[in-house]
Amino acid sequence: MRRVVYPGSFDPVTNGHLDLIVRAARLHDEVFVVVGANLAKEGLFSVDERLAMLREVTRGQPNVRVDKFRGLLVEFCQTHHISAIVKGLRAVSDFEYEMEMAQMNYRLAEIETLFMTANPLYAFLRSSLVKEIARYGGDVSSLVPAPVFAQLQKRLAAG
Ligand code: PNS
Repeated sequence: MRRVVYPGSFDPVTNGHLDLIVRAARLHDEVFVVVGANLAKEGLFSVDERLAMLREVTRGQPNVRVDKFRGLLVEFCQTHHISAIVKGLRAVSDFEYEMEMAQMNYRLAEIETLFMTANPLYAFLRSSLVKEIARYGGDVSSLVPAPVFAQLQKRLAAG
């Protein structure tokens, strides 16, 4: 079984993430979309809120599973018999950071990383920009799935 993991902060999931999830699900038997803690980033949504949004927007994808992990990603992969990580590359600026993580994950546990190029429609898109634009009242309705847009509005209105 070709089982891969697509890890990220997903704070919150964007249309760019979703595009990649759907494309990865076409290529593999099972895609685990997993929310991990990026210690360098402070979250707008709790991990459980991110999981709920991910579950809602991937409901139509029968071979996508949503989960969370703590600690090292390679340990999650080993526990769930996953041999490869899928990552999206938007631009050259992503490359150095992703390359470092890919090589480290291979060094730690011989877990491969498969890079998929971002859909050009979403190459400029990242969760932190979506949050910034939304905080200043900009329209992000075309950048995130509808349920995420609703959650963003609710969270930001609450202050
Ligand atoms: O969406 P992000 O913030 O780029 O996701 C980063 C994430 C969570 C995938 C990455 O920080 C990660 O894998 N963290 C788990 C801890 C770990 O395994 N660190 C070593 C990476 S080589």
